[in-house]
Amino acid sequence: MALDKYIRIVPDFPKEGIVFKDITPLLLDPEGRKECLTMLLSSLHSKKIDKVIGVESRGFFFGMLLAEALQVGFIPVRKPKKLPFTTISASYDLEYGTDALEIHTDAIQKGDRVLIHDDVLATGGTAKAVCELVEQLGGEIVQLNFLMEIPFLKGRDKIKNYEIFAAMQ
Ligand code: PRP
Ligand code: MG
Repeated sequence: MALDKYIRIVPDFPKEGIVFKDITPLLLDPEGRKECLTMLLSSLHSKKIDKVIGVESRGFFFGMLLAEALQVGFIPVRKPKKLPFTTISASYDLEYGTDALEIHTDAIQKGDRVLIHDDVLATGGTAKAVCELVEQLGGEIVQLNFLMEIPFLKGRDKIKNYEIFAAMQ
């Protein structure tokens, strides 16, 4: 697909055996960003969105671009102990290690239609944890979208009840 040219493949980062997908060339290129943003937006088919979540840290870049384009609120979902106000937390396993994610309890109102964005869908652990946070606060998940999906890790299986879009495989 056309967007692949903006992704740099870095073998053995951050440790041996991990093939890292580096999105910084995409961030550097305004044409690439625009192309990618347009794809993500058109996948929504004009569905109503009230809030966009960006997942720390690499989900922040396009998460904020999506929120700006849709003219809706942006919600940072962050790693533990980063958010200053009252939070709820969900833990997860990822491609390398385990972690938890937190959201402010006042970020979502019951019935809010939420778009979740992250850069990569790998094992799906991160995405599943974010879905748990949204639903605990009474939000409705309209779509999860990603810059890229790594199909062999079968992340979709963990979030199969939701609509999923990835700009690249
Ligand atoms: C990476 C990536 C996704 C997640 C995908 O983030 O940016 O958020 O892993 O993996 P999964 O589908 O197996 O859960 P990471 O936790 O490395 O942190 P970062 O975004 O802050 O670099
Ligand atoms: Mg991440």
